[in-house]
Amino acid sequence: MEIALGRHLLGLEGFSLEQIELILRTTRFMKQINSRAIKKVPTLRGRTVLLFFHENSTRTRTSFELAAKRLSADTVSISASGSSLVKGETLLDTAMNLQAMAPDAIVIRHSSSGAPHFLARHLDCTVINGGDGMHEHPTQALLDIYTIQEHFGGLQGLKVAIIGDIIHSRVARSNILGLNTMGAEVYIYGPPTMMPNPPQSLGARVAASMEEALREAHVIMMLRVQKERDHDMLFPSEREYARCFGLNRRRLQLARPDAVVMHPGPTNRGLEISPEVADGVQSLILAQVNNGVALRMALLYLLMGDGESRRE
Ligand code: CP
Repeated sequence: MEIALGRHLLGLEGFSLEQIELILRTTRFMKQINSRAIKKVPTLRGRTVLLFFHENSTRTRTSFELAAKRLSADTVSISASGSSLVKGETLLDTAMNLQAMAPDAIVIRHSSSGAPHFLARHLDCTVINGGDGMHEHPTQALLDIYTIQEHFGGLQGLKVAIIGDIIHSRVARSNILGLNTMGAEVYIYGPPTMMPNPPQSLGARVAASMEEALREAHVIMMLRVQKERDHDMLFPSEREYARCFGLNRRRLQLARPDAVVMHPGPTNRGLEISPEVADGVQSLILAQVNNGVALRMALLYLLMGDGESRRE
């Protein structure tokens, strides 16, 4: 059976179970490379990956750079503040000029939803979405799905509770799409001002309370309170948010005893997650980061390797 990912990775909307499973299998293989003393293979030698980050990033940017380097690709990193965007050059002009330098792939993070789709319409090279506005963060969701599968052996029938700022979260949006495809039961919960309207519009079950979201959950995915946004209108105070919507040790006991805690990072300790939970034995937060490198190696290989598809 031939499974194609296509040339770009813009989002998980429309992604099939077979496509996600191909990525997960390839990630497992890449993890073996990452466990070796010499973590480098020649697969993408001579190929160039541009990392074009218009918003700050620690995990996504570093792991894409490591992933490309472990596959022997060359990398160039560009940030908005260090580029001619600050002199008024448009995104399209910037992208066309970068394309003139003949990269094989551009990983873009941008504050505007749809920016990667816009570039994909104009550029010849592979475009990978490293997070666009409030739209999607597909590589984060794929590494989350890989981490859950690695821990539980599969996702079919697992209860996954996604809690926090749902409406602004590209991580939540991509995870709901991917987790639904993998057969998980996804519940969302957050302050009413941070929920979509209508709440069920994202395709997840809507919990009526924190207790309902957490009860018997296998996976609790806490979302970051995006402090860079103006939250004055969204919740009364950080103390109130932590009291009503934060995950602490007492609340974690509502979930299954073998439940795991996830967070895409960066975490606001003491706000959406308490330090003892973030650092506790049930936390997979650093496993997510570790898997992010292998997952991004798999994607670069599948999108840039030797064509657009793999024969099974
Ligand atoms: N999870 C995530 O996207 O983290 P960064 O913003 O550090 O890349």
